[in-house]
Amino acid sequence: MDPKDINWSSLGFGYMPTNSYVRTTWLDGKWSEPVLIKEPTITMSIAATCLHYGQAAFEGLKAFRQKDGKVRCLRPWENVKRMNLAADYMLAPAIPEELYIQMIQMVVKDNIEYVPPYGTGGALYIRPLLIGTGAQVGVSPSKMYDFLILVTPVGAYYKGGIQPVEALVLDDYDRAAPHGTGHVKFAGNYAASLKPSKIAKTQGYPITLFFDPKDHEFIDEFGTSNFFAISKEGHYVTPVSRSILHSITNMSLQDIAKDMDIPVELRPIHKAELADFAEVAACGTAVVITPISKIVTKDHTYTFGETCGPTLRKLYDRMTAIQHGDYPDTHNWMLEIK
Ligand SMILES: Cc1ncc(COP(=O)(O)O)c(C=O)c1O
Repeated sequence: MDPKDINWSSLGFGYMPTNSYVRTTWLDGKWSEPVLIKEPTITMSIAATCLHYGQAAFEGLKAFRQKDGKVRCLRPWENVKRMNLAADYMLAPAIPEELYIQMIQMVVKDNIEYVPPYGTGGALYIRPLLIGTGAQVGVSPSKMYDFLILVTPVGAYYKGGIQPVEALVLDDYDRAAPHGTGHVKFAGNYAASLKPSKIAKTQGYPITLFFDPKDHEFIDEFGTSNFFAISKEGHYVTPVSRSILHSITNMSLQDIAKDMDIPVELRPIHKAELADFAEVAACGTAVVITPISKIVTKDHTYTFGETCGPTLRKLYDRMTAIQHGDYPDTHNWMLEIK
């Protein structure tokens, strides 16, 4: 779609082709010079390892049109670190930080008119993807990889103010195995989440909360976002677990909490503690913070209020102000596109 025809206020979280995506190929031990590609397609062997054996990992981050008119992208250096954890786990080559940043610069610049205007609350969603593209039928790592970054504009999630949602715990499903791949952003983790997520949605719950996969005693995370809570003493509490993805939003909110003199507790959280929390939220790139009004498990219903709590509100406002350049970037989180 021509960016001039986009109605920024009705934009959701969907995919729309843009001017280009950027791609590099790993072959014979090195990454090729990245190139911008106009067609939103890729050609590969029907025996590519990403198609058969799930050698595929992705990332997600956003670029924002800021108050000063410039476009800045949030913490790409953390995304490349996390992508390289996944690369290491699936025996794919790492992406050098310099190459990653160069490719973000190239693709955002080439699609700059798709960055939603300041004040609309929208952003340019940036989706890096690393896939094994070598042909193979035996289960072993590919000898060839493609690393690409696509971009697409997305709208403000909260159009009529922050809306809390209800979450369901499904005891018959886990999003990760105890010593599995929950901590890396493998495409296959998300294929496995589709069915439990559909079951929860059919029952009227937009999000699913997962307990630890070994004993179902401790809190892990939501389907596509981290868990954190504000305790009655006003502490920011978030789980430590082998099987959760390290959310960059969660890391940022912890730093903001410390800036606001809110103590941060990183530790295993037993499910019984749900009864004691004052405010509970999901956090991630897509929405920043989603307050949780209710968590339903097979034998308990925990409630946290029908409106966004005051501490969640403060954290949300500061985080979004930094993203849009309305508050100083004291942690040097923003990469300027130039
Ligand atoms: C399983 C899972 N947890 C947490 C997150 C949030 O991570 P981030 O804040 O880096 O977007 C995501 C989002 O990608 C996710 O898929």
